[in-house]
Amino acid sequence: MSAEPVRVDPDRAERLAEPGAAHLVEVRNLVKEFPIRGGILNRTIAVVQAVSGVSFDIRRGETLGLVGESGSGKTTVGRLMLRLIEPTSGTVRFDGADITYIHGGHLKPIRRRMQIIFQDPFASLDPRAPIGDSIGEGLRIHQIGSQAERREKVRRMMDLVGLSPYHARRYPHEFSGGQRQRIGIARALVVEPDLLVCDEPVSALDVSIQAQVLNLLKSLQRELDLTYLFIAHNMGVVEHISDRVAVMYLGKIVEVADRETTFRDPQHPYTQALLSAIPVPDPERRRRRVILKGDVPSPVNPPSGCRFNPRCQVRAELGGPAICAEQEPALLDLVPGQGHHQCACHFRGSGTAAPSTAAAGPASAASPAPGGATPAHGG
Ligand SMILES: Nc1ncnc2c1ncn2[C@@H]1O[C@H](COP(=O)(O)OP(=O)(O)O)[C@@H](O)[C@H]1O
Ligand code: SF4
Ligand SMILES: [Mg+2]
Repeated sequence: MSAEPVRVDPDRAERLAEPGAAHLVEVRNLVKEFPIRGGILNRTIAVVQAVSGVSFDIRRGETLGLVGESGSGKTTVGRLMLRLIEPTSGTVRFDGADITYIHGGHLKPIRRRMQIIFQDPFASLDPRAPIGDSIGEGLRIHQIGSQAERREKVRRMMDLVGLSPYHARRYPHEFSGGQRQRIGIARALVVEPDLLVCDEPVSALDVSIQAQVLNLLKSLQRELDLTYLFIAHNMGVVEHISDRVAVMYLGKIVEVADRETTFRDPQHPYTQALLSAIPVPDPERRRRRVILKGDVPSPVNPPSGCRFNPRCQVRAELGGPAICAEQEPALLDLVPGQGHHQCACHFRGSGTAAPSTAAAGPASAASPAPGGATPAHGG
């Protein structure tokens, strides 16, 4: 299979673009702090601010791409959404119900409806169990169907993901990376969930196999009416699968837009830097290369103001305006009230101060960014 982009069904695109399209997931002000304990008294000596006030919606049937460098909090967001861990604060609503603090018997039916696949499906497969048993495990846990019905469901699901029924008796080590991811997908989808969190599912695969797995996920989404949160550290991977993209940096969402806007007209300097790392075949559209300086700072002690400020190429080009280090930029609509494109930057990467900062003292004194301050527009 070639690496060509997945085709978008126009009806589906139109349906998802409706402003009133129902949300399957609504996340509000989600915060997750992990205490680090130490010393002889095992006291909390530091706190990892893994997720720091994240809000987003996922519409029924869409794929929301969640992208950012390693350590930005993507996996933690996925685990919070699935209620695998409890947030420090904030809420998660699933299909209209607040599931943030439900437990036990109330959580079990929700668990069936939200599944996850990982970068390394091997880790979640029992090496001593034939893969048919691993795929059917969720059916047994949730007591779905008779034994014969479960066998039939497993067989159908294997067929859907491109595995032959005779594979059911084989063991995980007998499969290639791409086939193991198919096993992981079958295992997650056999219980007929509504939502699938895909946590870097192709990051460990060869590029040619990546395209196969992405295309499989796309066709399964159409066939089974699934909603995806698709996590990746690489913009190139989310481009092929997402309807909308949320960009995350050090525990915060810095930009959200539909796929076309994200790739054609990114506004946040971090999004622009991530995008400049992926090759563009069309020389007319070639982006200016932005090399991100250094690593993601520690979430134990994140930078003040805008968390991206020590690495921000636009701030550097503006001569280091103080507001970037003093005031945290809010995630705001670029066109007020429209809600299609949100960005958290005092300068929005476009060289003009956002209305929120126009009266903010130091920032209003900063000169507008030169044209070159918008790398993604270059070319
Ligand atoms: N259980 C945990 N205890 C302490 N720190 C954690 C835990 N889980 C994640 N972290 C930290 O939270 C931050 C975000 O992690 P993660 O959500 O895995 O990011 P990503 O998936 O974007 O790479 C990282 O600094 C990570 O080390
Ligand atoms: S607020 Fe300042 S530091 Fe943050 S992204 Fe915008 S220009 Fe860069
Ligand atoms: Mg992760």
